[in-house]
Amino acid sequence: MASKRILVIGTANIDFLLKTPFVPARGETMISEGGYTFVPGGKGANSAIAAARLGGETVFCTRVGDDAYGDRLLRIYAENGIDPRYVKVDRSEQTGLAVVMLERSGDNRIIVFPGANRKINETDIENSFLCYPDAVLTQFECGEKQVIAAAQIAADENIPFFLDAGPAIPDFPLGKLRQVEVFSPNESETAILTGIRPNTPDDCLRAAIVLCNKVKIKYVVLKLGSRGAFIYDGKYCDIVESYDVDAVDTTAAGDAFTAALTLEYMRHGDIYRAVKYANAVGALTVTKVGALSSLPKESEVKDFLLKQKETL
Ligand code: RIB
Repeated sequence: MASKRILVIGTANIDFLLKTPFVPARGETMISEGGYTFVPGGKGANSAIAAARLGGETVFCTRVGDDAYGDRLLRIYAENGIDPRYVKVDRSEQTGLAVVMLERSGDNRIIVFPGANRKINETDIENSFLCYPDAVLTQFECGEKQVIAAAQIAADENIPFFLDAGPAIPDFPLGKLRQVEVFSPNESETAILTGIRPNTPDDCLRAAIVLCNKVKIKYVVLKLGSRGAFIYDGKYCDIVESYDVDAVDTTAAGDAFTAALTLEYMRHGDIYRAVKYANAVGALTVTKVGALSSLPKESEVKDFLLKQKETL
């Protein structure tokens, strides 16, 4: 199978990861559980590394600061086989930082300081298309102007554009994107973008239709966490169930899901198969703590699917 080149345009962060029984209420002080770590993260970087570990040829467009965290991230991207041509070191901003509070339940709450990510500009994005990508993947985290610029160049060049809606930007002008191959928000992002919480299949369908009325989307794929994923192609819809695993940390599961979906879909064009594969990657990601540290390799996904007696 010919390798597909995926261009990921997105954020690079260092995650300050702190375990807590649950998040404190206003005015409350809470003692954390266990130690704390500074680990690589950022929705763009997580997706880029996920795609590379799954066998994709991955080019990453981002900015890091001229500091120790930036140096560390550059080293890690190289170790993971990411093409670094469009990773810029920005001298005026610090490397992006995310404070990740990981609750005992495996759920997280994240606050992001964008730092150098907010300097990713249209020239960076335009230049990155010189790598002749087969597909482009981005997330709302890299900013509204940046997402629109990436979508417009992808549409001009007829390159499939994949969009992860994390974190949701209320009132995002979806109509400016022109055309999206796969648009994949999670439950809370769907609620923010459409006003509909995707609790039932009927809610999912209504929300997907709202999205399709705003922009030309080939497939809407709603990430429903442990309930799986909902697919809508403008006519038919279906839910692909998730795999049953012990979740310890949901951080980066959505990023890994979208990367896996993009890569697998680009391999054969079958959205159902791609969503099943992405569900497996998401399931494996939640079984480990951390963002980058939890992203599975292609061989782990194969073994997992074999154990599930799943043939794709
Ligand atoms: O999706 C998880 C990611 O969101 C974290 O790695 C953090 O950096 C934030 O970008």
